[in-house]
Amino acid sequence: MYRTHTCGALTDKNDGDEVILAGWVNRRRDHGGVIFIDLRDRYGVTQIVSDPVGHSDAHDVLNDVRAEFVLQITGLVRKRPEGNDNLNMSTGKVEVVVTEIKILNASKTPPFEIDQEKDVNEELRLTYRYLDLRKERLKNNIILRHKVVKYIRDYFEKENFVEVETPILIKGTPEGSREYLVPSRLYHGNFYVLPQSPQQLKQLLMVAGFDRYFQIARCFRDEDQRGDRQPEFTQLDIEMSFIDEDDIMSLNEKLMIELVEKFVPKKKMLSKTFPVLTYEEAMNVYGVDKPDIRYELPLSDVTDLVKDSEFGVLKDAVKSGGIVKALRVEGGAKFTRKEIDEFTEVAKIYGAKGLSYVIIDKEPKSSIVKFFKKEELDAIFERCGAKDGDAVFFAADKFKTACEALGHVRISVAQKMGLIDENAFAFLWVKDFPMFEYDEENKTLAAVHHPFTSPKNAEDFEKNPQDSVAKAYDLILNGNELGGGSIRIHDRQLQKKIFDILEIGDEDRERRFGHILRAFEYGAPPHGGIAFGIDRLIMIFADEPNIREVIAFPKDQKAKDLMLGAPSEMPTKQIEELGIKIIEVKKD
Ligand code: AMO
Ligand code: AMP
Repeated sequence: MYRTHTCGALTDKNDGDEVILAGWVNRRRDHGGVIFIDLRDRYGVTQIVSDPVGHSDAHDVLNDVRAEFVLQITGLVRKRPEGNDNLNMSTGKVEVVVTEIKILNASKTPPFEIDQEKDVNEELRLTYRYLDLRKERLKNNIILRHKVVKYIRDYFEKENFVEVETPILIKGTPEGSREYLVPSRLYHGNFYVLPQSPQQLKQLLMVAGFDRYFQIARCFRDEDQRGDRQPEFTQLDIEMSFIDEDDIMSLNEKLMIELVEKFVPKKKMLSKTFPVLTYEEAMNVYGVDKPDIRYELPLSDVTDLVKDSEFGVLKDAVKSGGIVKALRVEGGAKFTRKEIDEFTEVAKIYGAKGLSYVIIDKEPKSSIVKFFKKEELDAIFERCGAKDGDAVFFAADKFKTACEALGHVRISVAQKMGLIDENAFAFLWVKDFPMFEYDEENKTLAAVHHPFTSPKNAEDFEKNPQDSVAKAYDLILNGNELGGGSIRIHDRQLQKKIFDILEIGDEDRERRFGHILRAFEYGAPPHGGIAFGIDRLIMIFADEPNIREVIAFPKDQKAKDLMLGAPSEMPTKQIEELGIKIIEVKKD
């Protein structure tokens, strides 16, 4: 028997018991002859004591023991002496006095300390991820992830869903990111594609009559890395037949509330009925399509109030069909020049050509005040509720750019002013997204969600496709897009019209989507679905700054697996078998 108890099990009820424990040396302290060891395993830490008087053999062995050695310890449980209890640990009332010790394995000195929450270079952490995972925080994140996923599986089972595994080696998906390709050995010049999501397969399962499908599905997207993105990530993927938007929204709203209550009960949910905003409302009021509504700070539209002013920058933007948004910041008069420059940089990152502002320090002040009549300024201040001590920022551009630039300034202002309640959870739905957006590069319209998304108005969306609205919805939590989905098109004629608008020609249509169009000829039911980013959900639940912290073996920010050393070169023979020749491409 390796152990009678785990390192997290002993309490004062075990006083006097003889026990065997096994685990890692979390820390070793030598107090003038008496050696203390914190022995750690997944379940906790137990204090081990050894005195040179008594079991001197064991004591000698402990003298040689270092951090991260693996030990098996036999000993007697005793209550700690008065005043030595450690209430931070479940085993904090007891210690084990060693009678026998076996070193099960030695360890090199680890490249960073496991027992402490110090900042360690992330490259080092990812290279030695198996040591990093020994840390309390990471271990807890991975266990939380397991529990949440288990809860989700049970939830959908109760709701009559079937989990179906879909293949990883498939053909292209319509999500719109760059795809990972897998060369075929048997068919040279042919490739499998790794799924960006199981989108088409789950729709085919609806054609197959499965009615309610879900899957904890691995997805692959070869896109630029960010804190909330990984090249491979996990979705909770859902598809349902004979439903409409409300069915999907209410089913998932209930799940989210249960998850929060069960796993993060300390978080304050701002509303248990999730607000629903249209895309247009979200953009107008918060400037982004995934607003953080833990704080207010709304934007106002002042296009009509500035269009006749003398300030060329704003006036000209309106003349060329743009809009002007204003952001009033209560107490913003105290911003320094440097802070305002930082906000301007944010606006520029999101496409604005600049950011204008007025400070109200008894009088309106700033270089642009001279271009306005007093009535014009008064009207602007009234519209956005500005008063003495405030600042008002302006961004002028096309609708989307002006909104997004000022929307991101809004986020920076909230961070700077400490307006965000880190303990609050603010969910909301954003729906009625546009069907299409103009793709500058290809000079065509592109699907905002994907080309199987149903228009809200199936009869006359064609007249003005640019303005048509989709039956698509996103779930947002604290400014993060947790998930998104749509009601699909199940009618072949309608699908054809969409492809026409997207200028996907017959050949391309057949090549990319022939299989699904064919399936739709055999009685596709009305259906729709949604997918949530599991990594993002856990990241927010665990209060982590990025999704790498909740993935056991993540890629780094440059899509590398530093522990395994992937991607890596392959033996020539293996590459030749695939009929592939590596050529050198000069990178500029
Ligand atoms: P979408 O592309 O919006 O929809 O993806 C759904 C959710 O998946 C998460 N996500 C990611 N998480 C980590 N790293 C990534 N690179 C990444 N990309 C996306 C996000 C996102 O909200 N098939 C459709 C869903 C549907 O229509 O049913 C889809 O994949 O949380
Ligand atoms: P410029 O004429 O480019 O020097 O800009 C004059 C002022 O207007 C500067 O403070 C700019 O940051 C600001 N500005 C420039 N473009 C915009 C814009 N699109 N929206 C709001 N302010 C702008």
